[in-house]
Amino acid sequence: MRILLIGAAGQLAQDLLEHLGTHEVFPLTHEQLEIADGEAVRQAVEMARPDCIINTAAFHKVDDCEDQPERSFLVNAVGVYNLACEAQRCAARLVHFSTDYVFDGRSRVPYTEEDRTGPLSVYASSKLAGEGLAQRYCERHFVIRTCGLYGDAGNRSKGGNFVERMLGLARAGRPLRVVADQVLTPTSTRDLGERVARLLQSESFGLYHMTSTGQCSWYEFTQEIFRLAGVAADLQPTDSASFGAKARRPPYSVLDNARMRRFGIPEFRPWQDALADYMLRRKISSVT
Ligand SMILES: NC(=O)c1ccc[n+]([C@@H]2O[C@H](COP(=O)([O-])OP(=O)(O)OC[C@H]3O[C@@H](n4cnc5c(N)ncnc54)[C@H](OP(=O)(O)O)[C@@H]3O)[C@@H](O)[C@H]2O)c1
Repeated sequence: MRILLIGAAGQLAQDLLEHLGTHEVFPLTHEQLEIADGEAVRQAVEMARPDCIINTAAFHKVDDCEDQPERSFLVNAVGVYNLACEAQRCAARLVHFSTDYVFDGRSRVPYTEEDRTGPLSVYASSKLAGEGLAQRYCERHFVIRTCGLYGDAGNRSKGGNFVERMLGLARAGRPLRVVADQVLTPTSTRDLGERVARLLQSESFGLYHMTSTGQCSWYEFTQEIFRLAGVAADLQPTDSASFGAKARRPPYSVLDNARMRRFGIPEFRPWQDALADYMLRRKISSVT
């Protein structure tokens, strides 16, 4: 397959690249392509003539999105529309990523693909709009909701992924307050990339949830990061109201990978195992 990989410098794209070795991949970074620019997207697709477009690009600084709704919808919705239309025009597949934040978090059991959405923030609303546009304008779509991503390439727009940010703050000796009333499933981009590479070869188009298994609060996630790193940090739990972030987040956004399992893709490992693996690779790369 000829694959156009958008947002190629990002953490998910970098891990996807590792798993797309049997394909001819055309990676495009943000510097090379702005997805909100319809004409630029048209030209890029015309040049690459892809069988598949994978879009990992997003404006996903959740709090900044509250102040920049136009940019949020331009990138997370119009940008996706541009890609969906071009994918449809050349009969290509479109793989697009969305978020657990499309749910309002009132459930206490993992959300399936059939559950009702209820976005609480500008970011979540713009991502939900993007999902709808991908589904409406490209027949051969895979819309994949995922959650709490971290990967070896870090997360450029947020200044390092959550794991690296927490370790950096602990190293600086800063007291840390992390929310204990938002429950999620941290997910390794390495594990996700492997499964996406399998899925995109199938004809089972549609909406998928894809995350590691298990669940924890951001506070518990941070505790596990420090435990694995052997770091003694001044870490205390807090709640969302005291933390006072600009955007509202769902208190519970655990996803059930129901459709993925139904179509024979192996379930993810528990989030703790994936994190341990990440920490080990990190340790090895720091001594080599
Ligand atoms: N990170 C998470 O915890 C998380 C959770 C759930 C869902 N997701 C979704 O998963 C996907 C991948 O996330 P990620 O963590 O891999 O993000 P990432 O590391 O920030 O990568 C995204 C890449 O897209 C590029 N990009 C941003 N805006 C663009 C635009 N308008 N046109 C073209 N390229 C653009 C970015 O470049 P610059 O940095 O140079 O702008 C970056 O290289 C996104 O759709 C995100 O919404 C992420």
